[in-house]
Formats: sequence, structure tokens, C-alpha cells
Amino acid sequence: LKQEALLQLEQADGSQQLNELRVKYLGKKGPLTEILRGMGSLSAEERPIIGQVANEVRTAIEEVIERKQEQFRKEETDKRLRQETIDITLPGRKQPAGAVHPLSKVIEEIEDIFLGMGYTVEEGPEVETDYYNFEALNFPKNHPARDMQDSFYVTDEILMRTHTSPVQVRTMERMKGDVPVKIICPGKVYRHDDDDATHSHVFTQIEGLVIDRHIRMSDLKGTLLQFVQEMFGKDTKIRLRPSFFPFTEPSAEVDVSCMMCRGEGCRTCKQTGWLEILGSGMVHPRVLEMAGYDPREYSGFAFGMGVERIAMLKYGIDDIRHFYTNDLRFLQQFVRV
Ligand code: PHE
Repeated sequence: LKQEALLQLEQADGSQQLNELRVKYLGKKGPLTEILRGMGSLSAEERPIIGQVANEVRTAIEEVIERKQEQFRKEETDKRLRQETIDITLPGRKQPAGAVHPLSKVIEEIEDIFLGMGYTVEEGPEVETDYYNFEALNFPKNHPARDMQDSFYVTDEILMRTHTSPVQVRTMERMKGDVPVKIICPGKVYRHDDDDATHSHVFTQIEGLVIDRHIRMSDLKGTLLQFVQEMFGKDTKIRLRPSFFPFTEPSAEVDVSCMMCRGEGCRTCKQTGWLEILGSGMVHPRVLEMAGYDPREYSGFAFGMGVERIAMLKYGIDDIRHFYTNDLRFLQQFVRV
């Protein structure tokens, strides 16, 4: 029995076969178990002798199984390792990396400039109430901007904000008459416009607001000059033209010297040498008052710019729709800017 078992075991060529043999010789129905079970019918002298022989046989078989098993395990690992070898000379596959959207880059750049001047960044809701979008900003009840034609209304009293100026009011209310207020607010705004190369029904504005004692128009002018020189280059000039907004008085439209032709006159600036980039003014006393600031003690300035327009001028982009159609050929040009 022992010889037969050992011979078969030595010839086994896989763990499965080995297992089958284990069951065959050592299992419950195997010959050894049978012999041990039959021990009861043996005489007292025979019992230890047969028992010893049976145990020897069992131990011998177990040892061979153990050894073979170890051998198979090693062979199988070797085989797997050989199959899984990595060819380190193969060139890798390139993973396409994402990049920051050009518009986000320009927003970050503008934020950085104002953070450097001590401003903080505020945000506000895109779905606004009539009160914050118009009323608290001194828009008269019959102002055309309030018309369905110009604004996206959700209900009579709720609309998609048409500018970032409501964040001015929300910030002032939160500050409860405290100064200084010195914030910029980037965000999306919505207008009922037909989309074309220079108009989009959704676009991005950055609003600025400063309130303190003794804030003057010269502070506004100096701040904006510093900003455009960091944004467009050291010799950029600005020009303020009288304008009108219900929430500022006086109000000014701000032009920068054309960075395309350096003031010589070109198509971008329609031969004028100047480009309009933002609206601004001194915060209207009624706006201050409604938000809890005494206009006899405090004054402030505000400005608002369209980020797409700034980005288009800075990078020579000819169509605002490029920012939203996500054509990779457009976007990839900005990966390393
Ligand atoms: N809110 C104005 C607009 O959307 C821009 C502006 C902001 C003007 C702040 C003056 C002061 O056109």
C-alpha cells in the first residue's frame, strides 16, 4: 500500500491530482482509515504493531504530499511571475491632462491683482430677488432693465441676476455699517440678449466695492490704473468718461489705451486708440443709506467689468461664444498661457 501510494504521488503532476490522491489514501473512505477502524477486532498484541505500521505509512504519505505540494506551489508562482513580467522598454501611454479654462484663468488673475491690494473675494446667488438686483440699487420702478425683455424672470419678484451689483448690497448688509468694505465679486450674470460674437445671455462679471471714510473719486481712478497696468502692461493708460448708473453718482465709463496698437489706432479699437472695459462710479448716497451706511460719514466707489471682454482683449479672441462651446482646439491654446 505504502509503495503504491508513494509511487502514484511521485507521478502526480499538479495540485489537483495531488489532492485526489490525498483523499484516496488518507480520506475517510481510504484504506488507512479502514485499517484503523478495524483495530477493535484485533488482539491486544497485534494492536500496537498494526497501529505503528499504519501510522508510519500515514506519516510517509503526508510527507510526500507536503513536499510535492511545496514543489507545485513554487512552480505555479514561477509560472505566474514569468507571465506577469512587465516589459519596461515599452513606451508609456500618454494620459490626456485637463487644464484650467481660459476664463477661470483670467478670473484668477484679476482676483490675484485685487487680493494684492487687500481686497477679499465675495460671492452671491445667481437667482436673485428684485430687491437686491434692482430696488436696493436705486433702480426706479419703471427702469427698462426691469423689463421682461431685458431680464430672465423666474417669478414676478425673482430673477436671474443681471449683474453682480446685488452682492454689494448683500455684503454691506452683512457688515452692518462696519468699515472698511473692500471686496471683489466674480460671478455669472444673465441677460435677455441674442447671442452673437460679442453678446452672450450668460457671461461673467467682476464687481468691486470699497466703502470707508473719505473715499474719493481719485481713489477709484488710482485703483483702476493700478489694476489695468498689472493686467495689460506697465504703460497702459486709462480714461474716464461721464456715464450713468442708478446706483452710482457720479458714474464713469472707463477706457484703457488699446493694447493691440498701443494707441496708434487699429480695428480692435475702431481707430480710436481706446477700449471700453468697465463701468464705475461713487456709490450713490441712497444705496449707502438703504444698506445701513450713513452717507454723511461714509463714501465709496464701485466698478463692474465683463471678464469675457477683458479676456478677449488680452488674448485677441474674436468671438465670445468660444468660451462656452468648449472646442478643444480653442481651449488647448491656453494650456500653457
Ligand atoms: N452693474 C453695472 C453693469 O452691469 C456695472 C457697474 C458696477 C457700474 C459697479 C458701476 C458700478 O453694467
